[in-house]
Amino acid sequence: MNERDTLKINAKSHLQIGGLDCTEIAEKYGTPVYVFDETHIRNMMRVYKNVIDKEYGGNGLVAYASKAFSCKAVYAIAHSENIGVDVVSGGELYTAISAGFPADKIIMHGNNKLLNELQSAVDRRIGLIVVDSFKEADILDKLCAERNISQNVLIRINPGIEAHTHAFVQTARTDSKFGFSISDGTAEKMTNHVLSKSNLVLKGYHCHIGSQIFEKQSFVLAVEKVMDFVAYIKSKTKFEADCINLGGGFGIWYNDEDPKLKLCDYTDYLESMINALKDKTQQLSLKNPYLIIEPGRSIIGEAGITLYTVGAIKEIEGIKKYVAVDGGMFDNPRYALYQSKYSVLLANRADEPCTEKVTIAGKCCESGDIIAVDVPLPKVKSGDILAVLSTGAYNYSMASNYNRNAVPPAILVNGTHVEYIIKPQTYEDIVRNDLIPDYLK
Ligand SMILES: Cc1ncc(COP(=O)(O)O)c(C=O)c1O
Repeated sequence: MNERDTLKINAKSHLQIGGLDCTEIAEKYGTPVYVFDETHIRNMMRVYKNVIDKEYGGNGLVAYASKAFSCKAVYAIAHSENIGVDVVSGGELYTAISAGFPADKIIMHGNNKLLNELQSAVDRRIGLIVVDSFKEADILDKLCAERNISQNVLIRINPGIEAHTHAFVQTARTDSKFGFSISDGTAEKMTNHVLSKSNLVLKGYHCHIGSQIFEKQSFVLAVEKVMDFVAYIKSKTKFEADCINLGGGFGIWYNDEDPKLKLCDYTDYLESMINALKDKTQQLSLKNPYLIIEPGRSIIGEAGITLYTVGAIKEIEGIKKYVAVDGGMFDNPRYALYQSKYSVLLANRADEPCTEKVTIAGKCCESGDIIAVDVPLPKVKSGDILAVLSTGAYNYSMASNYNRNAVPPAILVNGTHVEYIIKPQTYEDIVRNDLIPDYLK
């Protein structure tokens, strides 16, 4: 246990999140249900903000990467913590604005932003748009000209770093659908392209080297490469970046193969990046740029768990024991996508010794509908409440209605206070937009 642990085992041997017994949550709200601990979310937002305030004179912004978990309540929390957010779609932008989030603290990403997404971003006067194609810069410039406004932008660049993480979540390699490579000269070409646009104000550069990264050196290397590029561009064009945005990517604990980081470890990541930044600016005679970071997973991932009820149990002698739950890949597709690993517990018998290894399967009509493979548990019975840990990031946000299952609700726990932040989806919600053409009636 460390100070970030949102989970405890109480006197009844039940799992507890915040100040609440998970079996009582399951009884009151039903399963499957996503449960989030507000204190954990706030602590993580604060830890990054404090480092920027203390070590960098407040000359920067923590922008929660809301793709990790986007709903009105999370934007309201981010707003009350006085941080920014990044959005990657018109839907995330709409959600943030609907929650009253200040537009000037919103950053928009996307490798193929749609016209209506760009229109809505400029109409709302959001703080920064991270441009990711030549054509997008042309469109954006035209939209701004039509409105007689200018828009602050960053260019997404690829410093070519191979961070040690799953290949699907490495994003800053030269071969990536995101950004412009420094090494092949396209980042420089894009810089000249944006500088030639009279309605775009180039503030600097963005890079995101991947996700679930634990190596401090990868982040430090990203700072160095981006600043070398800033110096190079200055020498060629006289343009000196005012702002650099280093993305997110800090790792979290999913299972015992991952380190369990403390708050001070996250402080250390960011301090190391800031130190590298200060060293580089001094060495290259540059000004200290405004620094943006965009942590997503590390803010929300360990703050969330999913509770399920165990249903069918099937043992294939000598091969596997499948324990099926009332959720599955429609609420958590990460095993199906990346073979992601999770830790699971029986919330109603949380301190019983583990006596068997089981595979947790979902209820979808798909063999790959698995939540966790060969995880140790006490002997599982139908009706047990199963908790899957660290499901706060990229679970609800990747959920679907596959097999027309309802996306589970989400609740927010603060001490012993608990409330829905996303209501349960009903079957009526699922069929709401369905139409039957007249000739089929
Ligand atoms: C541009 C950008 N910023 C931030 C993030 C957040 O990364 P993480 O959740 O690993 O912190 C991502 C994740 O894909 C991203 O693409």
